[in-house]
Amino acid sequence: MEHDAKPAIQTENLTRRFGELTAVDNLNLSVPRGVIFGFLGPNGAGKSTTIHMVIGLLPPTAGTAYVGGFDILKAPLEVKRRIGVVPENLNLYERLTAAEQIELVGRLYGLDRSEIKRRIPPLLEMLELDDAGNKMILDYSQGNAQEDGDGLRAHPRARHPVPR
Ligand SMILES: Nc1ncnc2c1ncn2[C@@H]1O[C@H](COP(=O)(O)OP(=O)(O)OP(=O)(O)O)[C@@H](O)[C@H]1O
Ligand SMILES: [Mg+2]
Repeated sequence: MEHDAKPAIQTENLTRRFGELTAVDNLNLSVPRGVIFGFLGPNGAGKSTTIHMVIGLLPPTAGTAYVGGFDILKAPLEVKRRIGVVPENLNLYERLTAAEQIELVGRLYGLDRSEIKRRIPPLLEMLELDDAGNKMILDYSQGNAQEDGDGLRAHPRARHPVPR
C-alpha cells in the first residue's frame, strides 16, 4: 500500500513501562485520515504517554506506531514532517509576533520563503489574528487577562487577543 493510503496513526502493541508501572499496555489503535479523533480516558490512563511516543518524544518499551505509514522508530524525521502538535503547556517565543511565529514554523518545516510569505495573511485571518499579526506574543495577555491569554496561546483559533 502507498503511504498515502495508510491510516493517519496506527499503533502496534505499543507499550511503555516506567519501572514497575505499565503506563501503556499493548495498545492497538487505528486513526483513519481526515477524521477528528478524541482520545479520552481517566487521569493517569496513559494518554499523554501514548502521544509522547507517537510524536517521538518518548521511546516505547515495546511495540511501535506508524504515522502516515512511517514507523516512528525507523523513520522519525518522516513522522515529524507530517505532524503538528499543540502541547498542553505551549511555550511560544514571547518576543515574536504571530506572523513571525508562523514564519518560524514554516521554515522549520522546510517551506520556501515565498510560500511562507504567501500563506501568512490567510492563516492570520483564519486564526482571527489578522488585526494583531504584528503584535508580540508577549502583548497578547497581561494581568487579569492572563487566563484568557493562555487560552489564546494554546488555541489561537479560540478568540481574539486579550488587550492589556
Ligand atoms: N516520566 C514518567 N515517569 C514515571 N511515571 C510516569 C511518567 N510519565 C507518566 N507516568 C505515569 O504513567 C501513567 C500514565 O500517565 P499519563 O500522563 O500518560 O496519563 P494521562 O492519561 O495523560 O493522564 P491525565 O489525564 O492526567 O493527563 C501515570 O501513572 C503516570 O504517573
Ligand atoms: Mg495527560
